[in-house]
Amino acid sequence: MLILAIESSCDETAVALVRDGREVLTDQIFSQAALHAVYGGVVPEIASRSHVEVISQLADRALAEAGVTRADIDAVAVTCAPGLIGALLVGVNFAKAAALVLDVPLIPVHHVRGHIAANYLAYPELEPPFVCLAISGGNTLICGVRGYTDIRVLGGTRDDAAGECFDKTARVLGLPYPGGKPIDELSRTGDDQKYPLPVGHVDGSPYDMSFSGLKTAVVNLAHNAGQKGEPLDAPSLAASFCRAVSESLVPRAMLAVRELGYRKLAVAGGVAANSRIRSDFQAACAAAGVRLFIPPMRLCGDNAAMIGCQAYYEYLAGVRAGSDLNAWANMEISEVGFHGRA
Ligand code: KG4
Repeated sequence: MLILAIESSCDETAVALVRDGREVLTDQIFSQAALHAVYGGVVPEIASRSHVEVISQLADRALAEAGVTRADIDAVAVTCAPGLIGALLVGVNFAKAAALVLDVPLIPVHHVRGHIAANYLAYPELEPPFVCLAISGGNTLICGVRGYTDIRVLGGTRDDAAGECFDKTARVLGLPYPGGKPIDELSRTGDDQKYPLPVGHVDGSPYDMSFSGLKTAVVNLAHNAGQKGEPLDAPSLAASFCRAVSESLVPRAMLAVRELGYRKLAVAGGVAANSRIRSDFQAACAAAGVRLFIPPMRLCGDNAAMIGCQAYYEYLAGVRAGSDLNAWANMEISEVGFHGRA
């Protein structure tokens, strides 16, 4: 079954062709990062306009590179939530038009379910059940993946997403947007013990996290150093920050693995590219005898191949959308199908 998959939830326009869930024929990504960098964050209106400009060309290029014709497409899949509403609407409307013209089913996909599915593409042997930590610019969730479409949230951030915290900290350090990679690179020469930074806890909710206190602590440190005219050791602040984020994420994900007894842990989303987080997970999983799955960098960020992969399993579970499909800025990952949503 050949699925044409569309992703436009934030600042990447992406189109992929995926056969039977796991074979990626082509994976086209246009990143808008350079358009937003000057503003220090994604500007929703600019994101929507850019999606409109490139999406058709990207789809044509996908077909050409995969060497398939429109008649070969069996279904169209699209991210319909969560994300920037104007950006999502571009992909949703493109997908609706494509499904209508091709007279094939339309499959709506939750963006974070797609991030989880990136692991199936990277590891053909991976099957549920497993625990997945999804860490991206907009989401930080610990999920029990009981089946391909049976996904339960155990906990997540109560305020900022981990990636958002990376991006804001980068701005304070004068680094470009998106800030995760520059902080990661800067941190490699720093002392991770130099700055004591808070690791947020939520009383009574062992899986929940909070990153707003960490963000404020970094802002205050930079502000105080500036006022006193003291030099800030940026590499050490970046290293201490990465340690604090990792100390929020790793113990909670390992707790979930222990409590659910799955023995498999997957990490997904753009922040999974972070070298400190990756190496802390490698050490924790090796010590606990847990198999760790982290997709390669290209599959960690937003892409449409992961949407095409998850769409295949949604399709098998009977999920379909009509030409009245809408887009939603927020949606629980546990919602299967999108019927009856206002
Ligand atoms: O998954 P993604 O590409 O988009 C969303 O769905 O949000 O994640 C983007 C986030 C950004 O916040 C970016 O700063 C962060 O992933 N990121 C990183 C690294 N590379 C990207 N964060 C930490 N370390 C990295 N190496």
